[in-house]
Amino acid sequence: MAISQSSSPASAVHELAPALPCDSALDERGRLAIGGCDTIELARAFGTPAYVVAEEDLLSRARAFVAAGRAVGYADFHVVFAAKAFPCTAVLELFAREGLWCDVASGGELHLALAAGFAPERIVLHGNAKSESELRMALDAGVGLIVIDNFDEISRLERLTGEGRRGEGTRGEGIGGEDIGGEGARGGHVQNVLVRVTPDVRGDTHDHISTGQADSKFGFGMVDVAEAVARIARVPALRLVGVHGHIGSQLLELEPFRREVCELAALRAELGSRLGDDLGPNPVWDLGGGLGVRYTADQPEPPSVEQYVGALVEAASEHGMGPGSGARLLIEPGRSLTATAGVTLYTVESVKHNVHHWVAVDGGMSDNLRPMLYGARYEAHVADRLGGTLECVLAGKHCESGDVIVREALLDDPRAGDVIVTPATGAYGYAMSSNYNGITRPPVIFCRDGHARVVVRRETFEDLTARDVAGPADG
Ligand code: LLP
Repeated sequence: MAISQSSSPASAVHELAPALPCDSALDERGRLAIGGCDTIELARAFGTPAYVVAEEDLLSRARAFVAAGRAVGYADFHVVFAAKAFPCTAVLELFAREGLWCDVASGGELHLALAAGFAPERIVLHGNAKSESELRMALDAGVGLIVIDNFDEISRLERLTGEGRRGEGTRGEGIGGEDIGGEGARGGHVQNVLVRVTPDVRGDTHDHISTGQADSKFGFGMVDVAEAVARIARVPALRLVGVHGHIGSQLLELEPFRREVCELAALRAELGSRLGDDLGPNPVWDLGGGLGVRYTADQPEPPSVEQYVGALVEAASEHGMGPGSGARLLIEPGRSLTATAGVTLYTVESVKHNVHHWVAVDGGMSDNLRPMLYGARYEAHVADRLGGTLECVLAGKHCESGDVIVREALLDDPRAGDVIVTPATGAYGYAMSSNYNGITRPPVIFCRDGHARVVVRRETFEDLTARDVAGPADG
């Protein structure tokens, strides 16, 4: 559908709400437009709650990452979208078209990535508890890289590849492809793998999204890496091509990323020729994701994509893993690709006052669990009266006292029926949504140049019973 366009410069609206998508604007009546689409009209046309995504923001973030990668001079530098941040086909399709790779953490995400058009050799499979069927699915699909997390996985892969399950071998270009060389790869029965290590680097982030510390459930501890490398080397159908690390998420400083590179370099030095030889002349360093984004005006501006990539490359160069060294680099951004592209629209259902002003909306923890799970902070605005000053608690509609979306929202005289917008909900909101309290999950609406299209429809009550298996009870 076409929705009325807005004219005012984006800069004005970003002074009021810096976390809004890049092409947001206010019209002459003060109504917020996302991707040129009036949010009040969007709410009327598609209902609320609704995830509204500015396609232009997704594209510009993807292009910034790819351009930053091109600029640094590696023969192989790839931007691997962490699908978990927004595992929606339309988002995956957009990134596939932009030439990104895809990080998947389960059979389901692998299914989505393949369906969205990612070439298998551009897919990287993760997981600390990969099932046999997930590994089989990845081997059969011919994914570019499997990131090995633990010793059990090595045994499992040994058995599965020994079954002769793998028909096609590695294909395509770049890190997952034939230019890696080697007898086995050419023979067509070798799976390229990375080892995931926990480099014992902690960034300043919530415990639940910190992964690089020694006591992490992810990857091999530094002391076990040599043994893992040796065991992988004994499996003829596996070819170790590099190392993976991911230290955590929503990191706003570059120093932990530099330390990560430094620890991985130290690991290589420590293991000496053993790891070096096994990795071949063009080792892959997959540095994971983690770049943070700005959720609120009072939060410091995160490093830019260029600063982030620049810091990684600078650290890599200092440690002999720079562009001239033959090394290949992967990064796996999730949040920093999608968070700012998305906003959620709600409708106010009730307003009451006791100790606080309570503004209750028609969604909550079923569409955005992050405030409850990580204490994540968001802002909220009335969609046609941004820049309010009345301190309110923006509450959800779920039967939980903890169902608060924004603890200190500054709103302009909120009333029942107002449309509320929460910026920067494009990462991990849709991904972690649920049907708690029988709430149907919201649609995803892409907006661009004043044109809105539903890419995921709203769930219906029928969907809530769609998986029920009819029939008499046993006995
Ligand atoms: N690579 C690996 C191996 C990961 O585990 C993750 C995220 C990423 C990349 C992407 O990280 P990002 O660039 O998005 O920070 N649900 C949490 C975030 C969990 C992140 C899990 N792993 C949240 O809502 O904050």
